[in-house]
Amino acid sequence: MAYSRDHKMLLLCVFVILSSTLSISSASEEEKEYVLTLDHSNFTEIVSKHSFIVVEFYAPWCGHCKRLAPEYEKAASVLANHDPAIVLAKVDADVEANKELAGKYEVQGFPTIKILRNAGEKIQEYNGPREADGIVTYLKKQVGPASPEIKTKEDVESLIDDKKIFIVGIFPKFSGEEYENYMILADKLRSDHDFGHTSNAKLIPRGDSSITKPTLRLLKPFDELFVDSKNFEVDAMEKFIEESSTPLVTFFDQSADNQPFISKYFNSPDSKAMLFLNYDHAKQDLFKSTFHEIAGLYKGKGLVFLMGDVKDSENILEYFGLNGDQTPALVLQDTKGVKYVRQNVQADHIAPWLKDFTDGKLKPYIKSEPIPETNDEPVKVVVTKSINDMVLESKKNVLLEIYAPWCGHCKKLAPILEEVAVSFEQDPDVLIAKFDGTKNDIPSDTFDVQGYPTLYLRSSHGKLMKYDGNRTKDDLIEFIQKNRDAASESIEFIQKNSDATSESTSASAKDEL
Ligand SMILES: *[C@@H]1O[C@H](CO)[C@@H](O)[C@H](O)[C@H]1NC(C)=O
Ligand SMILES: *[C@@H]1O[C@H](CO)[C@@H](O)[C@H](O)[C@H]1NC(C)=O
Repeated sequence: MAYSRDHKMLLLCVFVILSSTLSISSASEEEKEYVLTLDHSNFTEIVSKHSFIVVEFYAPWCGHCKRLAPEYEKAASVLANHDPAIVLAKVDADVEANKELAGKYEVQGFPTIKILRNAGEKIQEYNGPREADGIVTYLKKQVGPASPEIKTKEDVESLIDDKKIFIVGIFPKFSGEEYENYMILADKLRSDHDFGHTSNAKLIPRGDSSITKPTLRLLKPFDELFVDSKNFEVDAMEKFIEESSTPLVTFFDQSADNQPFISKYFNSPDSKAMLFLNYDHAKQDLFKSTFHEIAGLYKGKGLVFLMGDVKDSENILEYFGLNGDQTPALVLQDTKGVKYVRQNVQADHIAPWLKDFTDGKLKPYIKSEPIPETNDEPVKVVVTKSINDMVLESKKNVLLEIYAPWCGHCKKLAPILEEVAVSFEQDPDVLIAKFDGTKNDIPSDTFDVQGYPTLYLRSSHGKLMKYDGNRTKDDLIEFIQKNRDAASESIEFIQKNSDATSESTSASAKDEL
């Protein structure tokens, strides 16, 4: 039985954690709206009048959009006074008539913010902060040159933040192919990274300052702190930046500076090794140095490393069904989402265990709540450890709800499901059950869970049907009666399309982007 889990689930969990760190401020009562409202009728016209305009695509129901709105408005009011004025606009992408526009701008989640330059000819992703001051700072930088010249110590101080990645082009003269390619690159990546260039390497805080040849230097707040490249092909520079801007070990915490690295880590397509321990642990330093050293050995080999203090990692530990007592814990998740867990690990266990992982010798970890001691409510509780006995081999017709404790549609369904269960209480061949999909791994080769709640009927002969009907007592009862003990066909059919009214995990994950 496979218990692989979609990466989206982990991403969702992480984004929920990250989003809790965003500041929430209430809307101020301003009369004038600085943010322009655009729609399909006037978008092109307005955009074509601006050499620089920022557009937020939002949906009225999206929580992160609601939180962003007052910050975005505040930023717009500040930036209206900037010289030249920076214009912020928004489009309700949920309105049918605007959907084509959203499609054109490849809007896949909300909010999506784009920077449009040259009357809309050049489109860039907004990758900046989501609070007013941060938006203002980020956009002021975006409207200036892609790579400002560094001439003085003061320039260094105002441009280079030693907690962030900064890319410097060092050139004996500001001309020639290297310099031109560098400018193309800076312009291309300006919304992702900060750039600057200089003819005086002595001003740059790190690295060899007696440089005579054009050099691309990346300053970073981790690992070797700076790294140089002399290859000025645009693609090569892009690859160099991508590779050198990822830390060997990503630290999982709430600090704003770390969030870009954390997002990048969880978005990585590679297998993941995550170590959670109490940073007060006596051997903390040993763990850190060991983990770092091992990460170095695996660099570029498809396994990426993250480390977190237990106090910052409660949610993610819970996602893996773990608690602080089981730390130091090493968690692996492979590219298919299969998990492996080693609890109460010692520093010298890590390397051999990772070798067993790459050799395919580890047994997957399956998350399950304990089987409840009493289970006498009308709706029975099923956990991973009891799903075989109670559902797959029970020879009963089982209506199984896979739910999440936080899901609103699930809460609404609970009393209805109870009524359904009560109405079948005298029927020994029918079981109504619920399964907490956040605390238990669902056998993914049998059930396809794309959102909560997901309802399945498994007939006593083993026919499996996803329930996509209305979640009313009558409809549910009718469905069970119609499909129970269905004829002897042994074809299993699983409808792949998820219910539009379920809280899709993928949509929510995108919502949080
Ligand atoms: C664009 O059109 C919409 C709908 O007609 C209107 O509400 C909005 O104010 C217009 N925006 C601008 C900037 O004119
Ligand atoms: C669900 O209910 C709506 C409105 O009550 C109805 O239009 C629709 O046909 C129903 N769908 C199913 C699958 O029964």
